[in-house]
Amino acid sequence: MKRGKLITFEGIEGVGKSTQLAFTRQHLERHQISVCLTREPGGTSVSERIRAILLDRQEPAMTAMTELLLMFAARNEHCARVIFPALDAGTWVISDRFNDASYAYQGGGRGLPAESIAILERLVLQNLRPDLTFLLDAPVEVALGRAAARRGEPDRFESERADFFTRARAAYLARARAEPMRFRILDATRAIDIVACDINAALDELVAK
Ligand code: TMP
Repeated sequence: MKRGKLITFEGIEGVGKSTQLAFTRQHLERHQISVCLTREPGGTSVSERIRAILLDRQEPAMTAMTELLLMFAARNEHCARVIFPALDAGTWVISDRFNDASYAYQGGGRGLPAESIAILERLVLQNLRPDLTFLLDAPVEVALGRAAARRGEPDRFESERADFFTRARAAYLARARAEPMRFRILDATRAIDIVACDINAALDELVAK
């Protein structure tokens, strides 16, 4: 049995991840690949409950370290119960956000040291790393404008000021540039179908490997 691949989508709010995730699933299914679409924080019943705490605007007093530990508690469940078993069974996993989001939001956004995140990463992920990560990138004003236009009440992260997202975006871009083999940085200000074409080309390469 050939091990499945892990594909992750990252980017700040409003860059169009959900649309591209759905297209990615369809594209892989056209290749007869069995696909599991999931998200972080979330993806299991415990992780979805942790997500509800993390996104709750009534919990603004949570420290950055508590936030990071909750992200990794959710991730541990997600890896142990969904991602590792799926990959072992030959299923490809597509995750709406994963580990890089902790470096972007808790590292860049909240200012926690990358070394603290790396310790948790080693504990929880072991040797698991995404095979391919799409970073959908757009200027903060454009992304936040789009996000605001389509959502209802903002959650705890969406309520952050623009400079939080500026730092998160910069941290994402720095990680992507440091690992060019794994990341594809996509200009998310382009039309949806043009972005999808770039994604499909990268997926086809991975399928052919
Ligand atoms: P979303 O999946 O609807 O975008 O919401 C999840 C929020 O959680 C989003 O604002 C990013 C944030 N987040 C982190 O801060 N750190 C993480 O490690 C992950 C996975 C998400």
